[in-house]
Amino acid sequence: MESRVLSRTEELLNRRRAAVPRGVFNVAPIFADSAEGVWLHDVDGKTYLDFAGGLGVLNVGHRHPHVLAALRAQLDRYLHTCFHVAMYEPYVALAERLNEITPGDFPKKTMLVNSGAEAVENAVKIARAATGRKAVITFEHAFHGRTLLGLSLTSKVDPYKVAFGPFAPEVYRVPYPYPYRCPQKHSGTCTAHVIATIEEAFRVQVDAGDVAAVIIEPVTGEGGFIVPPPDFLPALADLCRRHGILLIADEVQTGFGRTGRVFAVDHAGVEPDLLVAGKSLASGLPLASVTGRADLMEAPQVGGLGGTYGGNPLACVAALAVIDVLQSEGFLERAQALGANVLARFQTMQRRFPVIGEVRGLGAMVGMELVEDRESKTPARAATAQVLAACLERGLLILKSGVYDNVIRILVPLVISDEDLERGLNVLEEALAAVAD
Ligand SMILES: Cc1ncc(COP(=O)(O)O)c(C=O)c1O
Repeated sequence: MESRVLSRTEELLNRRRAAVPRGVFNVAPIFADSAEGVWLHDVDGKTYLDFAGGLGVLNVGHRHPHVLAALRAQLDRYLHTCFHVAMYEPYVALAERLNEITPGDFPKKTMLVNSGAEAVENAVKIARAATGRKAVITFEHAFHGRTLLGLSLTSKVDPYKVAFGPFAPEVYRVPYPYPYRCPQKHSGTCTAHVIATIEEAFRVQVDAGDVAAVIIEPVTGEGGFIVPPPDFLPALADLCRRHGILLIADEVQTGFGRTGRVFAVDHAGVEPDLLVAGKSLASGLPLASVTGRADLMEAPQVGGLGGTYGGNPLACVAALAVIDVLQSEGFLERAQALGANVLARFQTMQRRFPVIGEVRGLGAMVGMELVEDRESKTPARAATAQVLAACLERGLLILKSGVYDNVIRILVPLVISDEDLERGLNVLEEALAAVAD
């Protein structure tokens, strides 16, 4: 019998299965060949419209020309010296820019690391050193990374935490303000319920005086694009202030224009003590940051913070270029308009498909939650997977999220044209029709 010639993708999939463990997950069985703007081309010549942005990393799109130019110039100078061995200007320049654009009317400092998880870890170290307290409060539906402390702060158990304990101590979890599923046990509003639950935690779980920090995503990323009520973050900041607890905003997924502002906390007018950023910061180069009040950032001793690659020069110049683009005229306004457009289109789809239980978003961070029926709100996990598969088949790369795996989320590059956006949303609607009609 003649054996069929394998496609390049099939051949690479076989090699991948043999060489890389299954735990390293893939959302789509495709291999990239090249990418530009909002388009990704695979090794077999198939083209995808990229609504995933490499997991929320490409707010300025694949290979933005300004980022490429900065990288090319840096390639000809030096790639690595280690900031701890021989310092270089791009690290300092980026710290200055991040101090400038991070909310807070007070002096700030910034440290740079390789990943969001590492930034979260360092924010907690700094908070502990600055307060002399040990405990950290985190939320249900939170995702803060896959290192041990990041994972301890993370909520979703399967697949992130199964078999990986024991987890770090002194982590206390409270409900996230999730209006669509808020039990409102304590009183009228979702905000009042969650604030009361935290106050209750100070009676039944941990003394407020032992709590160094509360860490929160202003909109949950991996946790299903849950947008808290507008009064929640100010109420949380007030609670922290009353108890001498630091507020850490994890803006790894929400930052750099995704919500139509530089950072999502800008919408709430809240000034976190420490702000963690990553992902779209450097447009694909591994980089993350902790920016915070200068007095807090100075708390750890000399040598207490750092790492071999943290603030790599290539990543720093890419990030400086990203911030130029972010601050260029009309960029954030465009992100807001794009978000409004997606939200309106999602609302139209919601009227057509009963499977869409809720549509929600902040700026261009928009998601739809699929349910088996709107009464019970039972998460429609299988249907969500089918819709994503139908999108992929039709050339749209798009992601789910949420502890129930039932939220379809948009992380499209913010530089997308109206025509391409419509093209992608048409595909999503077709996929929903194929699965849910
Ligand atoms: C809000 C948030 N925090 C932290 C992380 C971890 O970032 P990294 O994967 O770069 O370690 C992520 C990644 O998805 C995230 O969305």
